[in-house]
Amino acid sequence: MKLLLDRREAIQVASDAVLLGLVEAGKDSSFPPALAAENKLVGGALERAWAAKEVRGKRREVTIVHRSDRAGRFVLVGLGPRPLTADALRVAGAEAAKRLRGKGIRTVSVALPTFTAGEVPAAVAVQAIAEGLTLGSYQYLQYKANNEPSVEEATLGLGRVHGSEEGSLKRALSESTKLLDAVLWTRDLANTPPNIATPAWLATQAESLTELGLKVAVFDEKKLLELGCGGILAVGSGSRHPPRMVVVEWPGGSRKGRTVAIVGKGITFDSGGISIKPALGMQEMKFDKAGACAVLGTLRAAAMLKAPTRVIGVLACAENLVGEGAYRPGDIVRTYSGKTIEVTNTDAEGRVVLSDALAYAVDKYHPDEIIDIATLTGAALVALGENMAAVVGNNERLENALVGSGLATGELLWRLPLTDTHREMVRSDVADVKNSVEPKVAGVLIGGTFLEQFVGETPWAHLDIAGPAYARLGTLKYCPPYHPLGATAFGVRLLTEYLLGETAVQ
Ligand code: BES
Ligand code: ZN
Ligand code: ZN
Repeated sequence: MKLLLDRREAIQVASDAVLLGLVEAGKDSSFPPALAAENKLVGGALERAWAAKEVRGKRREVTIVHRSDRAGRFVLVGLGPRPLTADALRVAGAEAAKRLRGKGIRTVSVALPTFTAGEVPAAVAVQAIAEGLTLGSYQYLQYKANNEPSVEEATLGLGRVHGSEEGSLKRALSESTKLLDAVLWTRDLANTPPNIATPAWLATQAESLTELGLKVAVFDEKKLLELGCGGILAVGSGSRHPPRMVVVEWPGGSRKGRTVAIVGKGITFDSGGISIKPALGMQEMKFDKAGACAVLGTLRAAAMLKAPTRVIGVLACAENLVGEGAYRPGDIVRTYSGKTIEVTNTDAEGRVVLSDALAYAVDKYHPDEIIDIATLTGAALVALGENMAAVVGNNERLENALVGSGLATGELLWRLPLTDTHREMVRSDVADVKNSVEPKVAGVLIGGTFLEQFVGETPWAHLDIAGPAYARLGTLKYCPPYHPLGATAFGVRLLTEYLLGETAVQ
């Protein structure tokens, strides 16, 4: 979606529809005076609908009213009750974009003052509305002939109220556009089917980032063997599409001395391997590369927005299939760190590939902190649902800072603990650690504790995004409207916010 800014009132900008934000009414609130001019243009229909309580400004309420002057429509978008938040505006923008799809509405103008409502800073509102409209109208259509077209262009009308802030709002919109570009790119990557999106394909996508000034290195099987990345090689050995490790580097700007590593699970398809998964829903396991895609998206955003710190992205890419060469339960593999893993379940493959990538990032780059992002466990989905990811780690400050970035972006994180009991539980009788534990309790914590073994003393946080990485059809109505069906790119906005805002939390 093309996003523009105009100093005039939205009503003066030619478009197919004018979007008006509506704060939820109290018990007997009167018709909002800010909408008097618009009400006149529809012969008083807005006020009548309000009086009849057909329009109340509730969250996710969207009402289309045609103008009597035939100059298009007004779309009343419910914002919910005060106090308004950035997420309320993000939800409102996304809901509006979704409901306008397939109605022949190509251009909209947005009456910004009705969304800020004297409460939300205009720059925050601009970003939230831009995100809502863009993320809510996204569909993955690469392989579909027929589709319902979405809104193509939105102009934010500043009007008298926000006209004087034009300069700063232009900057806010331009930064949002760059970030959103990275988010949509990430969604396209993660939605790509597994017959196309092989480990080598992901590496090629990473290589396309060199255009933006990022350095990219791809390690093939031969190089992985040389490096001693026995985890990635084991997981990838059942597939004809060989594994890859990919390193992407953003050299950084004003804080070049500081390095943050972000590591992503890039399982292009997870059949479970010999410990095979049930058939029902297995197609969803194309999203098991969502962590790696989020890392790529974050690096793209970091480059576009010129993040101050140096960022190292490491992707651990493999396809977890069954085949003659597949790794088996009972195998013991030696990883990059030298530590050995007893494979007790080939479906707990994410932690096995990440063990190499984490240890490699720590050993080669000595990062000040390391964050991994992975669709690691079904247990995370069970514990926290689809709208929140779990965060565990060895550093409270880092974990809390990430929780804060989550609150700022609407990509929510919930902290969980790692304890010595869990450290005992991942110990193996025949190797240094085992990749799954029976009975299956505290799955997120066991996964986290396993990964902890490979980061040494480096401050580390692990994001288990198995819940929010993609929106499922059956539960779509419980997901925020800016998470349409399929890949959400969860983590890109959160991690970018963390990287850009980092000076503040130091
Ligand atoms: N990729 C899955 C986790 C997953 C489940 C992601 C649902 C997204 C949605 C992961 O590799 C896996 O299978 N984990 C196992 C671990 C177990 C064998 C210890 C799980 O969660 O059951
Ligand atoms: Zn698995
Ligand atoms: Zn997996």
